[in-house]
Amino acid sequence: MAREFTSVGVVGLGTMGAGIVEVFARSGVDVVAVEITDDALERGRTTLTGSTDRAVAKGRLAAADRDALLDRVTFAVGLDALHAVDLVIEAVPERLDLKRRLFADLDRICKPEAVLATNTSSLSVTEIAVATGRPEQVIGIHFFNPAPVMKLVEVVRTVVTADDVVADVEALCARLGKVDVTIGDRAGFVANALLFGYLNHAVTMVEARYATREDIDVAMKLGGGLPMGPLALMDLIGLDTSYEVLDTMYRRGGRDRRHSPAPLLRQMVTAGLLGRKSGRGFYTYERPGSSKVVPDAQTPAPAGEPPTDPVRTVGVVGAGASAHRLVAVFAAAGYQVVAVSPESEDLATAGAAVRTALDENVAQDQLGEADRDAALDRITWSTASTELADVDLVVEAVADDLDVKKALLADLAAVCKPGTVLATTTSVLPVIDLAMATGRPDDVVGLHFVHPGAATPVVEIVRTIRSSVAAVDTARAVCATLGRTGVVCDDRAGFIVDALLFPYLNDAVRMLEAGYAGTDDVDHAMKLGCGYPTGPFALLDAIGLDVALAVQRRLYAELRDPGFAPAPLLEQLVTAGHLGDRTGRGFR
Ligand SMILES: NC(=O)c1ccc[n+]([C@@H]2O[C@H](COP(=O)([O-])OP(=O)(O)OC[C@H]3O[C@@H](n4cnc5c(N)ncnc54)[C@H](O)[C@@H]3O)[C@@H](O)[C@H]2O)c1
Repeated sequence: MAREFTSVGVVGLGTMGAGIVEVFARSGVDVVAVEITDDALERGRTTLTGSTDRAVAKGRLAAADRDALLDRVTFAVGLDALHAVDLVIEAVPERLDLKRRLFADLDRICKPEAVLATNTSSLSVTEIAVATGRPEQVIGIHFFNPAPVMKLVEVVRTVVTADDVVADVEALCARLGKVDVTIGDRAGFVANALLFGYLNHAVTMVEARYATREDIDVAMKLGGGLPMGPLALMDLIGLDTSYEVLDTMYRRGGRDRRHSPAPLLRQMVTAGLLGRKSGRGFYTYERPGSSKVVPDAQTPAPAGEPPTDPVRTVGVVGAGASAHRLVAVFAAAGYQVVAVSPESEDLATAGAAVRTALDENVAQDQLGEADRDAALDRITWSTASTELADVDLVVEAVADDLDVKKALLADLAAVCKPGTVLATTTSVLPVIDLAMATGRPDDVVGLHFVHPGAATPVVEIVRTIRSSVAAVDTARAVCATLGRTGVVCDDRAGFIVDALLFPYLNDAVRMLEAGYAGTDDVDHAMKLGCGYPTGPFALLDAIGLDVALAVQRRLYAELRDPGFAPAPLLEQLVTAGHLGDRTGRGFR
């Protein structure tokens, strides 16, 4: 029989602590909620009542249950109030010295059989445990933000944690309605070890003015299918906490430069821009603690007047699924489309593929039948690029091969009238290399349709150091008419989405390789702890391990940082032909 914890103490009622109090009290556990000052205690109480009042307003909690929940909580300043509880969980700032001192005090104050737990995200639970005289009763219970919502709890056992303490805490998690993953004591555990390199990378993108905060966040939300963008997430976590987690992971986790906190993060923390909790971080909020973003000096101006010389005709070059989809997308949006396909492709088959794509839109109620027919009427097919002389925009979607694309773009540049925007849909090649092959690089941009088959409507508009403002503006205006979100970024490997997504997937493979956690635990952790729609291994199997390896190689070749080197296990699986769902075998 697992020991039942009937009363728990929570120390620190900030971003995490107040939510943890709510989780316990909701499950019928008596809670002693402790802070360091009267003001902080009041803030914690206000967070708790605000959250439970919102749950009542949204019909997720009955008013009587809210009152019962609040009655279970006793608020106190100072640790002495914790002398009789069965379990203490601390959620004070992420600093080892502070936590070690706190645990030494708890060891003195709490009854001998009490379990002492830390909610640390990255610090060594072992080092915290040995500050007490009862290290076998010390454990990590790592909740995710917001604690009442996220289902995952990482239970961190050290080499000295007693087996019965682990079992008791696992039973407690089940009682709280949480799913636990029990793991060893390693910096960042599972979820944060995979999350924070990605978050820090996003900060370096803002720092380098590679793309705007809005474009980075929307690209990852829509293009990556994530519940929120990385910068908005950091504001939720707290920039001070994020800084400390990264700093610890850098020092404990093998000095991977990707965990070395971006200088901008340090500056923001020093300036008191801590995220939602201080009312300002990457975004500005209505007031401290609010989730409502308000406009500030960096908020982009609303879209101006439409261009005086809008795009009317679009050329699409290529054979194959991507090109056919693009023909359908442009025709459905009302453009006259000149579809140029190589002689090797049967035009009737290509036309049928476009029709199928449009039929799918009709089946999904995105397009009426008459509109589909009108769209088909707007398409002219040809095998000759000379037909593209008068188009306003030409988009190439041929094989991702540098020489093939260079030759094609040089040909298009010679054929198309001056001012035609020349766009490449490459996802892996440097756009500037292609632009220079045209002799008119000002007219060249990248238009990377992120996952063109999916309903995620993001297009990365890649601006090289030679792209003209007019070409980028035209691309932006066209994306808007396609009902897609255009995000503008510089010409770097992986643009925004792939550059942020694939290293995270690669890190998951390294974690598996290191034997720290299995595929199921890692997939669970990212889904239930971070709200990701798919875990990294399921995603890798779906994308194709060969595709992931190609992107990762390209990132590594450009960034030269060992942290981006493809995981050996990924290389081996690709060599063995285990490419994922497509071949029936990958990580699963
Ligand atoms: N923020 C997140 O998203 C998140 C998620 C999971 C885990 N964590 C972990 O939770 C812990 C707390 O992080 P946070 O973001 O909630 O920090 P926070 O800064 O929002 O809150 C910390 C709280 O602790 C209080 N405090 C400081 N010293 C204290 C003491 N001696 N006694 C009692 N209270 C004290 C502070 O007044 C403050 O209210 C950290 O270890 C962090 O790594 C944070």
